[in-house]
Amino acid sequence: MVGSNLTSRKNPMTTPIDGIAPHGGQLINRIATTAEKEEFLQQADRLPRVQLDERATSDLVMIAIGGFSPLKGFMEQSDYEKVVEDMRLSNGLPWSIPITLSVSEEVAEPLKEGSWIRLDDENGRFIGVLELTQKYRYNKAHEAINVYKTDDLKHPGVKVLYEGGAINLAGPVWLLERESHPYFPDYQIDPIKSRQLFKEKNWATIVGFQTRNPIHRAHEYIQKCALEIVDGLFLHPLVGVTKSDDVPADVRMRCYEIMLDKYFPHDRVILAINPSAMRYAGPREAIFHALIRKNYGCTHFIVGRDHAGVGDYYGTYDAQYIFDEFSPAELGITPMKFEHAFYCKRSQQMATTKTSPSLPEERIHLSGTKVREMLRRGELPPPEFSRPEVAAELIRAMLGQAD
Ligand code: ADX
Repeated sequence: MVGSNLTSRKNPMTTPIDGIAPHGGQLINRIATTAEKEEFLQQADRLPRVQLDERATSDLVMIAIGGFSPLKGFMEQSDYEKVVEDMRLSNGLPWSIPITLSVSEEVAEPLKEGSWIRLDDENGRFIGVLELTQKYRYNKAHEAINVYKTDDLKHPGVKVLYEGGAINLAGPVWLLERESHPYFPDYQIDPIKSRQLFKEKNWATIVGFQTRNPIHRAHEYIQKCALEIVDGLFLHPLVGVTKSDDVPADVRMRCYEIMLDKYFPHDRVILAINPSAMRYAGPREAIFHALIRKNYGCTHFIVGRDHAGVGDYYGTYDAQYIFDEFSPAELGITPMKFEHAFYCKRSQQMATTKTSPSLPEERIHLSGTKVREMLRRGELPPPEFSRPEVAAELIRAMLGQAD
């Protein structure tokens, strides 16, 4: 059978790694070796095919590069159910978001457990292989309520869940090759590399920052508060699928470059892309985001207000409280929790209620929706909310003037 010599590879391509232990103790590498790739290519036309959407493609990549360590593939039923119920893998390790490959009954029906499946991306390119160990039905309503705390189809994560097929395909995967990112090759820094960079820079403590927005003054404030404590900042914007009204990744990347160039010490920040897709699962996604950054070698992770939230589905600090459900040792990365930051007119600086005695009317903070409306009208948000260079870049993009 195809790949039969691969099944014995219990410990795929383990290389010594730098820095803190990855989640589960070992940084997973599921990128095919030259010989494996050769073998897969020879079999390509004979294998049954499954087409991945953009999110599943990014999950495959994250598994392969070790961003989702200890996962080696799409979750089997025992892991899936335990994650949905208890936020743990079946071996007890914390894990808060199901990583599954759902397909329709028609697609699943002819696929045999124990066989090898060719995985194509959304453009029909052969990008990976799945050793199908299990296919199983799952309960979408149960997953929605447990993971997203709602089954409202207006929730973008729930919508994706309900649009998915009825059957999950599970098993270990291989990524055929690690290609350069088409738009951000310079910022494609995989966990093995980020760990090396942290070592080269002599950083013992590194704070990871998740974002799907251009950096505004509140982001900058909490990043800099953290930078007063730790050695380095790993600015790790998510560039996988986001909802359609989020600012596109290429525009955000230009904004991050502008911010870093002008407002941060160059030797204390590394900008790198996080290829994964947004789930908008609020508290559960905060845990997931932290574990991903642990795999990249971060020792700390910033969790501010309504982390990974959307609409009014989660309480402002639920994404911070959820960390109390785990022991610090089993998470292995320390959350740095920040209150809602704003510009305080009285003290003329960024602050939170922990540091400012201001009355609500003395605070400047704008909602994302309000800012988008202003930008659409060609209006610059105030400098107390956004650095003017970033606002100008956003307006350029919004008005279609970007290069
Ligand atoms: S997220 O979906 O990726 O969490 P966003 O990019 O807006 O969205 O947030 C990135 C991080 O900054 C999150 O940890 C979030 O909680 C935090 N954050 C955003 N705005 C504020 C704010 N005004 N005050 C404190 N933390 C904030």
